[in-house]
Amino acid sequence: MVKLTVNGAAVEVDVDPDVPLIYVLRNDLRLNGPKLGCERGQCGACTIHLNGVAARSCLIPVKAAAGMAITTLEGLGTPDKPHPLQTAFIAEQALQCGYCTSGQIMQAASLLASKPRPSEAEVRSHMDANLCRCGCQPRMIRAVMRASGQEA
Ligand code: FES
Repeated sequence: MVKLTVNGAAVEVDVDPDVPLIYVLRNDLRLNGPKLGCERGQCGACTIHLNGVAARSCLIPVKAAAGMAITTLEGLGTPDKPHPLQTAFIAEQALQCGYCTSGQIMQAASLLASKPRPSEAEVRSHMDANLCRCGCQPRMIRAVMRASGQEA
C-alpha cells in the first residue's frame, strides 16, 4: 500500500511502489488530466504538481510522491470555479487536439504560483519544455499572460 494525498484527499493505493505515478493517477485513481506521451520526461503531457511545483509524473515512482501534495488538473479548478488559466486558455482558444493541454496548464500554474506577473520572455522560457504538436504555443503564451492580468 502506498499512501498519497491527491487533490487534497488522502488515498491508499495497492500498487508496486516503483510504478510511475502517472499510471496510478490514471489507472487506479481515474484522474485522466495527466496524459502519457513520451514516458521519458521530454514532452510534458504528464505534468502535475508536487508540493506546488511542476513535475513529470512519468518519471516519478509512486513511492517518491508519498507524503507530498499531488495536484492534477482536476484539482486546479472546477467547471463552476475554473482556475484563471483554464478561463484564459478557453478565451484564447489555446488548444487544438487538447492532448498536451493539461500538462501545459499545470506547467503554467506552477509559474504563476511563484511569479504572478511574469514577463513574456519568462513565460516563453518556462513553457518551452512542454511540447505541442498542433502549433498552439503562441496562443498558450497569450493565455498565460492573460491569466496573469497582462496582455501579450
Ligand atoms: Fe511524461 Fe512525456 S509523458 S514528459
